[in-house]
Amino acid sequence: MTEPAQKPDETTPKMKPSILRRIAVFGIVLFLGLQLVPVDRQNPEVVADINAPEEVKLILRRACYDCHSNETHWPWYSYVAPGSWLMAKDVREGRDYLNFSEWGDYYELEETPEYFLDECFGSIESGEMPLWFYLPLHPEAKLTEEDMKILKDWCQAEESVVAEEIEEDLES
Ligand code: HEC
Repeated sequence: MTEPAQKPDETTPKMKPSILRRIAVFGIVLFLGLQLVPVDRQNPEVVADINAPEEVKLILRRACYDCHSNETHWPWYSYVAPGSWLMAKDVREGRDYLNFSEWGDYYELEETPEYFLDECFGSIESGEMPLWFYLPLHPEAKLTEEDMKILKDWCQAEESVVAEEIEEDLES
């Protein structure tokens, strides 16, 4: 009865290194292979940066521009798959949603704060943006009370131009 129990004992110590080595070699080859998949890390031209005061822009640059502008900083992990794919995907989707490098084209100076309030402020206030996993890698992107106040004051300081225009349109 002891025979079958001994057999694996004899064979496993010999097999283990070779299987582990094969797995390791396979892993390295796979990892190197992944690096060959092309990743789009382009920063298209900034056509029309958002119309905002410099202090507002500085906050957005810190917290949002890596994913929502054409001025993305591509860190080292954006050059190593699979991190590169995840980052490229966030930037692609982020820019599709909202690109501060094009906002200046959409909205005039007076309209910008109101659209910002409408489209962006909620996602910042709820903590949805910047995306949570971005913060441990970019602590500087965390918005302080002071930053929030600057954004809020900017949004609220302007006259409600858009609302007035809509009202005028409805009246006429
Ligand atoms: C790490 C990349 C990243 C950063 C940094 C980031 N975003 Fe986003 N954002 C995305 C992605 C990806 C989407 C689209 C998918 C989604 O909603 O999760 C998005 C979507 C949005 C949307 C669309 C609506 C919504 O809430 O889903 C708004 C508004 C937005 N972001 C604003 C901001 C603002 C403002 C900042 C800076 C304070 C910011 N984002 C920072 C990646 C990012």
